[in-house]
Amino acid sequence: MRAPRRVFTGVGVLVLVLFVEATPLFKEKIYSPSYAEVFASRSSADVTLFSGAQRELKHTFNLSFDGKVGNLKHCAGNDDDVCVRWSKSAQLLVTKGPKNEMWTVTIEATQPLHVCFPLEGHQLYGGMVLEEYPIQRVNLTQVSFYTGDITRIGRLQNVMERFWYSSGGLNIRVNPDVPLFLSQDETQLCLTAKNEFPYPKDIPIKMSYVTCGNTGNIREALKCFFPMYDKPIPPTKIIADPIWSTWVEFERPIDQQKLIQFEKDITSHGFNASVIELDDAWETCHGNQTFDLKKFPDPKAMVDEIHSKGHLITLWVHPFLGPGCPSNLLDIYSPYVMKYPNGSVGITTWWNGEGAALFDFLNPETTKWYVERLHRILDNYGFDGFKFDAGEAAYIPGMSIKEQSVTSHRPNQYTSKYIKMASQFGTLTEVRVGAEAFQYKLMQRLQDRDSIWTSENLGLRSVITSVLQLSILGYGAILPDMVGGNCYSGRPSKELFIRWVQVNTFLPLIQFSLSPWSFDDETVQITRKFTALHNAYSERILKEFKDPHHPVINPLWWIAPEDKIALVSDSEFLLGEDLLVAPVLEQGATSRDIYLPRGEWRDENTGKVYTGPTTLKKYPAPLEVLPYFERIKS
Ligand SMILES: *[C@@H]1O[C@H](CO)[C@@H](O)[C@H](O)[C@H]1NC(C)=O
Ligand SMILES: *[C@@H]1O[C@H](CO)[C@@H](O)[C@H](O)[C@H]1NC(C)=O
Ligand SMILES: *[C@@H]1O[C@H](CO)[C@@H](O)[C@H](O)[C@H]1NC(C)=O
Ligand SMILES: *[C@@H]1O[C@H](CO)[C@@H](O)[C@H](O)[C@H]1NC(C)=O
Ligand SMILES: *[C@@H]1O[C@H](CO)[C@@H](O)[C@H](O)[C@H]1NC(C)=O
Repeated sequence: MRAPRRVFTGVGVLVLVLFVEATPLFKEKIYSPSYAEVFASRSSADVTLFSGAQRELKHTFNLSFDGKVGNLKHCAGNDDDVCVRWSKSAQLLVTKGPKNEMWTVTIEATQPLHVCFPLEGHQLYGGMVLEEYPIQRVNLTQVSFYTGDITRIGRLQNVMERFWYSSGGLNIRVNPDVPLFLSQDETQLCLTAKNEFPYPKDIPIKMSYVTCGNTGNIREALKCFFPMYDKPIPPTKIIADPIWSTWVEFERPIDQQKLIQFEKDITSHGFNASVIELDDAWETCHGNQTFDLKKFPDPKAMVDEIHSKGHLITLWVHPFLGPGCPSNLLDIYSPYVMKYPNGSVGITTWWNGEGAALFDFLNPETTKWYVERLHRILDNYGFDGFKFDAGEAAYIPGMSIKEQSVTSHRPNQYTSKYIKMASQFGTLTEVRVGAEAFQYKLMQRLQDRDSIWTSENLGLRSVITSVLQLSILGYGAILPDMVGGNCYSGRPSKELFIRWVQVNTFLPLIQFSLSPWSFDDETVQITRKFTALHNAYSERILKEFKDPHHPVINPLWWIAPEDKIALVSDSEFLLGEDLLVAPVLEQGATSRDIYLPRGEWRDENTGKVYTGPTTLKKYPAPLEVLPYFERIKS
């Protein structure tokens, strides 16, 4: 790495102020040869920071304000700092740190401000998990950076972190207290700070982030914030064998007898199961966490029976109370649910209906009480863990895009506290949200996929794009949602189901719900073949979990950061650094083009060795074939 020894030389700072009158605007140029160039006007600035012995390490951004902020002045600070001020209404400060070889950039203003990073043809990664990858393929305009889903904000943004990286080496990590909005397209990434919903009116308008400077390539950019990967390691059994959820196959009419029969069917069709997961709906009313005894006459006996067959069993839980609970329950739970600013109980809407309350995980008392309640379920019935659903900040009463009546300086804290609470239940825990949360030791599930082919609306093609995004945001134990999707727009075809199994074969964890035997015998046989292949690779997957030098699943650029094709590959992935997987993702296709980066690759279907970089045109892959390649020489 072309690591700078000192970020700032600091000596002999030369400040040159040039006035170029050009009514009605005038331009100023501040030039300091040892560390920064700032070309500024009364409403914007182009900034380039330099460091390294030859000043080769740069960091460039464009700053603009929504209106004029006055005349530019150099402001005093430490010798090592860059400080400029626009009259009294805005200031840019660049300091060293917090670590060696890092800058902290802080901009404060009395009005909305925008910091834009020109992409100059480079690829963009990081931020929030989107359906396309690299992420600049999705245009966003001033999207408020808080977790939410279709129900509450009309967009899927369940997992988001404030890091961005580019193939040109851009790396930035934005401070959690910045009231952040995100814009992006093929030309630039723009971060806006403004005091608008979901943030309160009375907070300071401030942008603050750290960077190591444009490090040259994506691997170096990542290393700035992720020198090592300390991944949560799921129980070995879960890596080896699938989790089977009741959700898609049975939906809400699930009951004790159906669950017991599900286990029998799984086994009799020759499948293994690490976990049987009881999803919605098992409660008398949502959030009371009491078994509906009409559907589940003896939950303890059910759990014991699943255990006796050698499987674990987990239970679906969520942060809602209701709708449809008797009003006396609301009185009982009122200390633990979110209130409006006027003190009355807040009302939210979720996919199980309107008129629910939301448990308040920002309140430590609620968390303590909720955790104790879950422990009682574990103790009373013997469940092994939980699937935690929802947890998005936009479910906070008043915080949907429609309402906008409640604000918060750091809305995503709701999500991160929810996950922190969930992580107390160990690595068997499943969540679907993330914000300031990549470090927790649990399984991170992709937001529900639909049973369609496209990446748009989260079909099969979005599984790899989303997994790659989660992986490079630092999430370790990725659970790629259920094979075949959730049937929200109808059941998948047999072909789609089988291609879905193949995508999952070399991902770290497999989750089923739709039963393969509901298609036909061939589906069962092919599905068994690939789950057995996953099982046979479980030692290898475990090894990738334990290796601290890389994520478990990687984009092709992980081993080829300067390779322009690898940088945009969104239909192949690596398990660790040496196993390349290229599933068929197109309806009706019996072949696909496969890109192999530099190195020698052994085709694990045929034994043939290829030397990369090369593209295998129309590689034959009929329905029963999953193309994958082992790197035997780098
Ligand atoms: C951004 O700044 C760079 C130099 O710092 C400049 O070349 C470029 O034109 C600016 N772009 C915009 C959109 O202002
Ligand atoms: C995204 O924005 C760019 C302009 O930067 C435009 O050319 C492109 O057509 C837009 N793409 C979509 C999918 O809207
Ligand atoms: C709520 O839970 C309590 C305690 O388990 C139980 O006694 C009560 O019947 C439940 N009520 C409803 C409506 O679920
Ligand atoms: C409290 O605020 C909420 C949301 O703004 C409103 O719907 C409710 O009527 C208010 N309650 C009282 C008692 O003022
Ligand atoms: C089930 O587990 C056994 C033992 O680990 C393994 O040999 C077999 O291949 C697995 N079968 C499937 C379909 O995963």
